[in-house]
Amino acid sequence: MKLLVIGGGGREHAIIKALRRNPAVEEIFALPGNGGMEGDATCVPIGAKDIPAIVDFAKANAIDFAVVAPDDPLVLGCVDALQAIGVPCFGPEAKAAIIEGSKAFSKDLMKKYGIPTAKYETFTELDAALSYLDTQTAPIVVKADGLALGKGVIIAETIADAKQAATEMMAEGKFGESGKCIVIEEFLTGPEVSVLAFTDGETMVPMVSSMDHKRAMDGDEGLNTGGMGTVAPNPYYTPEVAQRCMEEIFLPTMRAMNTEGRTFRGCLYFGLMVTPDGPKVIEYNCRFGDPETQVVLPLLETDLLTIMQAVSEGRLKDVDVKFRKEHACCVVLASKGYPLSYEKGFEMTLPETAADEEIYIAGAKRDGDKLRTNGGRVLGAVARAETLPAAIEKAYALAEKIHFDNAFYRRDIGQRALKATN
Ligand code: AMP
Ligand code: GLY
Repeated sequence: MKLLVIGGGGREHAIIKALRRNPAVEEIFALPGNGGMEGDATCVPIGAKDIPAIVDFAKANAIDFAVVAPDDPLVLGCVDALQAIGVPCFGPEAKAAIIEGSKAFSKDLMKKYGIPTAKYETFTELDAALSYLDTQTAPIVVKADGLALGKGVIIAETIADAKQAATEMMAEGKFGESGKCIVIEEFLTGPEVSVLAFTDGETMVPMVSSMDHKRAMDGDEGLNTGGMGTVAPNPYYTPEVAQRCMEEIFLPTMRAMNTEGRTFRGCLYFGLMVTPDGPKVIEYNCRFGDPETQVVLPLLETDLLTIMQAVSEGRLKDVDVKFRKEHACCVVLASKGYPLSYEKGFEMTLPETAADEEIYIAGAKRDGDKLRTNGGRVLGAVARAETLPAAIEKAYALAEKIHFDNAFYRRDIGQRALKATN
């Protein structure tokens, strides 16, 4: 089989490595991929949002199955376009990807179907937003409606700060089109849990839970990033919480999307907060999380391609999806300065990996036989083990064997999870 994977980061590298375990896979093309995954896939310089070029490529290369991993192409209808030329895909159609593409849509969906989430109001007029804020108390959360690369969420410590954020989004175009409509919501507290789930609209199969580390610095200090590391499973996701999530959130969301005529087939990501009143949805994503995927897929025992094909054909119920009863840790190595400005082009040296270790490359470029850094998040050093402390220790031991100038990583990935376990 010839496969196509759209995207080019660490998440895509993890997906590609998992797909390669299926012996029927002859070739995987990554569009655009990155230089660090060239041993695992053929990288083709076509951007993930260039849907006409992606469609042409799929036609010309007789692609048997495509996986669309990032949010942008999903929201733009990449799956619809590939299906229209007869290429089966893993990933939701645009009308279902809206669950991530519009926060106003997802908040309204949760309200309509009684799915627990923070209380909120949606605004398209600045004056109305400002008057509403006068009736609220801080802290309070202001969110740009559309995709804003995770930067469109402001936790305002005062009402004045919230008003400033609303003004910047709605009147000053801070997040472009995506800020013309905003959501103002209640500030929730409690540990965060990420749950990725396979669903074909009929069956919902949550994967092993995980915990992201979004801030750049140790102790959850510094700027928000795309994610500096993950562990799985997440100790806050107890069997009781899992059962409540299934009954109150996962199944109701799947059914709500069906009722709306927007059946979701693919990986639905639930960003949850375990509040004193029970689990609530912070956000939905229409795709695998990054870097959650880098700890979830190494724990997957069942063949990924088999699951993805079943999802796309609406027969997920026939597949027995199994995870190892182990723990995994991913430490992201970034370029000094990330998430602000950073230098690129440093030569990387990577060690050999053992069977229970992986290096997933997120931002690298080939230069002859050398590999050079080419992004803010450069790679994830991942290890799995029988216990969480052992997985953390192994992931850090692996990270220490990786070298490039200006590398930095958090030293405390997994520590919060460890404390919760003890
Ligand atoms: P999002 O892009 O929606 O995932 O938001 C980014 C981060 O902001 C989340 O991971 C949370 O840590 C935080 N956040 C978002 N909404 C809320 C809320 N209603 N209450 C507290 N924290 C929130
Ligand atoms: N790790 C968060 C996300 O993928 O959106």
